[in-house]
Amino acid sequence: MTRIAERLANYKLHYFARIGARISAMQADGQDIIRLDEGAPDLPPPDFVIDRLTSAARRPSTHSYQPHRGTSGLRAAWAVMYERSYQVKLNPETDVLPLMGSKEGIFHLPFAFVNPGDIVLIPDPGYITYTRGTLLAQGVPYYIPLEQKNQFLPDFSRIPEAILREAKILWLNYPNNPTAAMAPLSFFEEVVSLAHKYGWLVCHDAAYTQVTFNEVHAPSIHQVPGAKDVALEFNTLSKSHNMAGWRVAAVIGRSEFIQPFYTLKTNVDSGHFLPVLEAAETAMTGDQSWIRARNQIYRERRDIFIQRLHEIGLHAETPDASLYIWCPILPGWTSEIFCTALLEEAQVSLTPGTVFGNFGEGYIRISLTASNDRIQEAADRIARVVPVLRERAV
Ligand SMILES: Cc1ncc(COP(=O)(O)O)c(C=O)c1O
Repeated sequence: MTRIAERLANYKLHYFARIGARISAMQADGQDIIRLDEGAPDLPPPDFVIDRLTSAARRPSTHSYQPHRGTSGLRAAWAVMYERSYQVKLNPETDVLPLMGSKEGIFHLPFAFVNPGDIVLIPDPGYITYTRGTLLAQGVPYYIPLEQKNQFLPDFSRIPEAILREAKILWLNYPNNPTAAMAPLSFFEEVVSLAHKYGWLVCHDAAYTQVTFNEVHAPSIHQVPGAKDVALEFNTLSKSHNMAGWRVAAVIGRSEFIQPFYTLKTNVDSGHFLPVLEAAETAMTGDQSWIRARNQIYRERRDIFIQRLHEIGLHAETPDASLYIWCPILPGWTSEIFCTALLEEAQVSLTPGTVFGNFGEGYIRISLTASNDRIQEAADRIARVVPVLRERAV
């Protein structure tokens, strides 16, 4: 029997793969499960984007391999989006490397920049791919707690000076998954100045910058003067343009950082499907007014859920951005057991905070990725079950 490689031996199946199998079994058993666990947008992109995809797919010349840097039109579209959304000017030929989804790039980044034993600063709770890529590249994660008392921003003064000096990479993500917290531009200014001092490469994951409510603006790290000397930013159309399955993203930064990544990618994949690239270009350069209307839909869902949570004594903060509510659980429970109870007794699937790290204990993440009716139904089911669970603290 061939034994699997040691590097995979302690590697777990991703949480959503595990829970997906459990839910399929429950559904096969006839149960109506409401899934608000994964951050998978349920709404489609606009028709004009889909029309561009289908018309491009009918052109016989669009079916071959594409360059690893995508098309010049696509790179230019990323530059248009950065100028429009963040007032950041990019050189599309040097500052943009298209990715097959930002998860791909986030996972691969350590293979271009991390040597075995290098320290990587990772927020806890945080998107788990920062850890998974680091570990496979034999880097050493150093977790930075994100706590409510600090508005879920890292407190760099609590990290030992030796770690700050040794660390090679800092991962950040605002608006944040899973806490839904936002970071002001002044926070990124502080980070850029620390990165200059300590020589870090800051990797900012900007996946949710365009899912905002109440007219708030979520900045790009590249808005900070000098950021390009120390930072890369990952951006994606998955959440901004409802295109999660399309796998269209990019890493944005100066060519010295992009080039090693490009070298790696030329050895990993063979480019994307041209009709997808063309439609992505249209998504970024065409009418954007629908995004505001889409954000209003998420906002309504948020309000329905938050109101019900508050009625039953679960005091989640009302988020200004992202697809998520980060909700404190009942005292006396662990996140995982609480989620299992809600799945089994309310048939609502949420994500335990501990999936995102130890500092996620005491929280659940609720994804606002279902219609108002289903959101209302899920909140009502939870409201029926929570009083029972309150009596049964574990
Ligand atoms: C914080 C964060 N970064 C990156 C991603 C990955 O997005 P993509 O679909 O571009 O791979 C997600 C997806 O949920 C996310 O929550």
